[in-house]
Amino acid sequence: MSSGAKRPSSRPSGRAGSRKGTRPAGRQLHTKVKTAKGRKLSSKLWLERQLNDPYVAEAKSRGYRSRAAFKLLQIDEKHGILKKGGRIVDLGAAPGGWTQVALERCGKGAQVVAVDLLDIEPIEGARILKLDFLEEGAEETITKALGGPADLVMSDMAAPSTGHPKTDHLRIMMLAETALHFALQVLAPGGAFLAKVLQGGSEKELLDLLRRHFGQVRHVKPEASRKDSAELYVLATGFRT
Ligand SMILES: C[S@@+](CC[C@H](N)C(=O)[O-])C[C@H]1O[C@@H](n2cnc3c(N)ncnc32)[C@H](O)[C@@H]1O
Repeated sequence: MSSGAKRPSSRPSGRAGSRKGTRPAGRQLHTKVKTAKGRKLSSKLWLERQLNDPYVAEAKSRGYRSRAAFKLLQIDEKHGILKKGGRIVDLGAAPGGWTQVALERCGKGAQVVAVDLLDIEPIEGARILKLDFLEEGAEETITKALGGPADLVMSDMAAPSTGHPKTDHLRIMMLAETALHFALQVLAPGGAFLAKVLQGGSEKELLDLLRRHFGQVRHVKPEASRKDSAELYVLATGFRT
C-alpha cells in the first residue's frame, strides 16, 4: 500500500474471509473522481484507481485489510505454501491482509508473527511486533516471538517510493536480501521463503543464495498484482541448510 493510503476498515476481531475464492466476484461501474481544489492529479488518479479496483471492493466486503491479501491467496492457491498449523513470519505486515490470509489458511494451531514499522490493529491469533526490521536486534526479537523454526518467511516489505526507479529498486532488493538472510537462520528444513522484488528480476547474488539453499526457486506475479507495476515475488521452496 502506498504511503498516505486510506486503509480499508477492519472487523473488530481482525479475522476475515468467510467467503472463498481468490478473485473478485463481478464487474463494477467505473467511478470518476473530480479534481477538487488542492487535490493533486496524482492523488486524483490514485483515488480513481482505488474506487475502480475490484480487489479493493472485494477485500472490503470480505473483511481483508488490504487488496494485497489476494496476492497471497493467489500465490497459495497455485503453490500451496500455507500449511495447516504453520509457523510463519510476515515481514512488512501492515495493515495485516497477509497475516489474515495466513491465519485463515493455516487454521488451528497456526502461529503468525507480524512485523512492521507501522501500527497494526490486533488480529486474533497473531503476534504483532512494531519494529524496523533493518534495525539491530530486530531479528533476535522476531526469533524469540516465533518460539521455534518457521515453515514460511514471507516479506511484502516496501519502502515508500522515492519516484526514482533505481533507488526504489535498490531499496526493495536490500529489504528482500535482509529478509533472506533472516530466513536462512529461522527456517525449518523443507520451509519456504517468499519476498517482494521488482521486475528486472532478482539480483544474481540473491538468486545464487536462494538456489544454494532451496530445492526450487521461481518468480511469481499473482493476478492481483497490478500489471502496470514492476512488482514481482520470488518464491523459494524446499529449504535445506
Ligand atoms: C505493501 S505494504 C504490506 C501490505 C501487507 N502485506 C498486507 O497484506 O496488508 C509494505 C509494508 O512494508 C513495511 N516496511 C517497509 N520497510 C520496513 C522495515 N524496514 N521494517 C518493517 N516494515 C517495513 C511498510 O511499513 C508497509 O506497511
